Amino acid sequence: MEVSVQKNSLEGITADVLIVGVPKHTEHVEGWDRLDALFSGALSGWIRSGDVASGRNEYSRVPALPGTEFKRVLFAGLGNDKTLDADDLRKVFAGAGKQLRKMKAESAAVWSASFTSGDFEDADIAFAAAEGLGLGTYAFEDYKTGSNEKQVELREVTLLTDSEESVIKPAFGVGRVYADAVNEARDLVNTPGNILTATAMADYAAQLADQYGFGFEVLGRAEMEELGMGAILAVNQGSVEEPRLIVLKYKGTEKWEDVVGLVGKGITFDTGGYSLKTKTGIVGMKGDMGGAAAVLGAMRIIGELRPNKNVVAVIASTDNMISGSAFKPDDVITSLSGKTIEVLNTDAEGRLVLADAVTYAKQSGADYLVDVATLTGGVITALGYDKTGALTNSEGFFETFLEAASETGEFVWRLPLTENDKKRIRKSDVADLNNSPGGDGHMIFGGGFVGEFAEDTPWIHLDIAGTSGASSAHDLGPKGGTGVMVRTLATLVDLMAEESGE
Ligand code: BES
Ligand code: ZN
Ligand code: ZN
Repeated sequence: MEVSVQKNSLEGITADVLIVGVPKHTEHVEGWDRLDALFSGALSGWIRSGDVASGRNEYSRVPALPGTEFKRVLFAGLGNDKTLDADDLRKVFAGAGKQLRKMKAESAAVWSASFTSGDFEDADIAFAAAEGLGLGTYAFEDYKTGSNEKQVELREVTLLTDSEESVIKPAFGVGRVYADAVNEARDLVNTPGNILTATAMADYAAQLADQYGFGFEVLGRAEMEELGMGAILAVNQGSVEEPRLIVLKYKGTEKWEDVVGLVGKGITFDTGGYSLKTKTGIVGMKGDMGGAAAVLGAMRIIGELRPNKNVVAVIASTDNMISGSAFKPDDVITSLSGKTIEVLNTDAEGRLVLADAVTYAKQSGADYLVDVATLTGGVITALGYDKTGALTNSEGFFETFLEAASETGEFVWRLPLTENDKKRIRKSDVADLNNSPGGDGHMIFGGGFVGEFAEDTPWIHLDIAGTSGASSAHDLGPKGGTGVMVRTLATLVDLMAEESGE
């Protein structure tokens, strides 16, 4: 998606589609009468009659009149422009992106003035347009062989504005980086487990490292055995696929200090193991690497935007399979940290692989930890499919995190983790910890277990089991992988870089 900037005039627009925002009060838009004149004054009437809708996230398409070079106008309803915030604007553009896809548009022009009736600067609009259109036009390139539908892509966006190109282009560029990274994460989540194996995920990460000059390490079964990563090895034990611990290091300051660790669950397929999932519960478990995708997506943004903060990303990847060699309930395993774990449920595998990954992140110098995982069905029971669940041991760190989440519009809700919860995680007749303390409070026990390995390091746990995949189209994209937390993790690192730069 390339961008160009053109003077704020409605003349000489050659794009397939002109995108116009329609606020409740069109009189707030400078130059609206010029637009109306393009339609010989009919536009006001269309809005009054509702043929051109002004309600938020309502879209209307109108063919352009003879004499204009653009082919259509897409009217994007903004509703009450006084209450329109940055997240609403992102959604308005994502909705417009979906419409553009339907219209098979390859180019679009955004009439910036029609979106400025709120408090937005032209740069904010450029950012929202790039991010929203990028997210909204996303589609997964599936594996259908029979389709003869031509794949169209939005290649060119022209911003109609009087602001300087030197202000508009960078803002658009950042929005595009964010959208591209989310879409890459969506692709990873949508890719089936027979194709996206742990080895394939490591290859993807190696490419990313190469592209952005990240430090890169990858550990296989032999290296894990050598180091004593008994937890991830136990989960991998029933598989014919090699496990991978993937490490990316981004050096944003002179010294390797004040390091943020991003840790992702990368289960490429979760059968549940001997605590086998049901035949309906198992479908969709290719998406059990959403945490890994979020971390990889965030690293792409970090690689592009290069904040002054050190980041180590650690991804624990394997599938969770059944075979004669698979791990079993009652097994006792020894994690990299030295802590022993009684396995009560092989379907609680995410917390096991994360245990070793968190320890490895700490050993790699992480001073802050965020783990991201499709960890429990419990988070869905508690919060539904549209909220990410969180736990933390650090009020201050979490405050910064919430600021990032509010910038990106990704909803996060914190649950408690009490001493009593920890007691139950530590209760076992034969080991230091157990991986499934009971049928209640799954999300807290899952995350709390990971917290045992974070120890005193400021830590945030994000359970994205509900938010990582969508069963139907949503505000920012189609059904399937959402790429949730990609933008928030990157924004968090950015905010932390700003904080330490002060
Ligand atoms: N991968 C699942 C969690 C999940 C559920 C992700 C639904 C996406 C959608 C995880 O490994 C799991 O099976 N968790 C169990 C834990 C329990 C057995 C302690 C769960 O939440 O039921
Ligand atoms: Zn599981
Ligand atoms: Zn799982």
